[in-house]
Amino acid sequence: MLSGRHILLIIGGGIAAYKSLDLIRRLRERGATVTPVLTRAGEEFVTPLSVSALAGRKVYRDLFDLTDEAEMGHIQLSRVADLVVVAPATADLMGRMAQGLASDLASTLLLATDTPVLIAPAMNVRMWEHPATRRNLARLEEDGVARVGPNDGDMACGEYGPGRMAEPLEIVAAIEARLGDGPLKGRRILVTSGPTHEPIDPVRYIANRSSGAQGTALASALAALGAEVAFVTGPAEVPPPAGVEVVRVDTAREMREAVMAALPVDAGVFAAAVADWRMKQESPRKLKKSRDGLPVLEFAENPDILREVAQMAEGRPRLVIGFAAETDDVQANAEAKRARKGCDWIVANDVSPASGVMGGSENAVTIIDDAGAESWPRMGKDMVARRLAERIAGTLA
Ligand code: CTP
Repeated sequence: MLSGRHILLIIGGGIAAYKSLDLIRRLRERGATVTPVLTRAGEEFVTPLSVSALAGRKVYRDLFDLTDEAEMGHIQLSRVADLVVVAPATADLMGRMAQGLASDLASTLLLATDTPVLIAPAMNVRMWEHPATRRNLARLEEDGVARVGPNDGDMACGEYGPGRMAEPLEIVAAIEARLGDGPLKGRRILVTSGPTHEPIDPVRYIANRSSGAQGTALASALAALGAEVAFVTGPAEVPPPAGVEVVRVDTAREMREAVMAALPVDAGVFAAAVADWRMKQESPRKLKKSRDGLPVLEFAENPDILREVAQMAEGRPRLVIGFAAETDDVQANAEAKRARKGCDWIVANDVSPASGVMGGSENAVTIIDDAGAESWPRMGKDMVARRLAERIAGTLA
């Protein structure tokens, strides 16, 4: 439910704007107040009248509308809401947000606001994949802008691929995750995920088979229970979830820095498969077999991020959770690892090739804590994530 919540909805100029009419309806059904802002381009797709009729209030359109400025200045308008939602967020609007431009009412509101922002991008697949949009998106993520979608699918322009705006109910779910009264509301949780890449030379690196699926599902499940999630991810195969603060890193040392910068948190979940070793000396130039012969790789130990956080004398998260990917003696190894690292729980799983867990969609985990070991049956990684998120919520309550 979203009763008493106030959403400032900016409708950009894309064909998906028609879905925003339904979004307004869905939000109001759940008790939210929606203040709509329609861009000039948005007006080409939906009429101000239909927007204001569905919202049950005035639609704001022009920065220089003096009546509005007298009624409610744009600064104030940008701050009355609990959340600013941009749907559809067009390539142009995202570009202007990333650049900090204030060229119309929508972009001025976005620059003036100190309220969290959620975007639902919608555009042609080529535009979505264009390096300029990638850059803008990365910058917006760095700025803490949350995102839902886009989805893959047939597009109005006749092409197929990512670029379709998320469906209204998906956007509602992302809004509820941020504003709803889930059991983790008000809690900040750090999740590390994915592998790390440790460079050997400018073209080669050491990595592992982690896809990032379990960590991503966990971050998503925690956000769905209302947590504010800081998601620190190595170069994973699966894209990061919507509605979380994403920090992308490559190496273990970068991951450590990002983790320290994300503190303090109520709980830290260390699902990343951090490389234990890096090159003692990374070669600044590509190693050549003709010149260098058979290379001898000398290793150095990476910082153990989980252990460092679990053993912090000051500012330690209340709950520190490690993962143990083992190929044999799973429980015994995991129990020893829990003691060695000093974390509260270890989520142990068998990653031997026969288990199919690494890179697969299912997982069978054993949770080890002070009370002993609890083995869960094999289930989808999403389900493991949901149950873990609920267990975390129960412990932090
Ligand atoms: N971890 C970490 N930083 C590292 C290595 C691991 O934060 N440099 C975290 C992982 O995210 C995971 C747990 O520690 O939560 C797994 O540790 P792992 O590397 O498997 O354990 P090790 O102590 O290296 O033990 P072993 O090599 O015997 O498996």
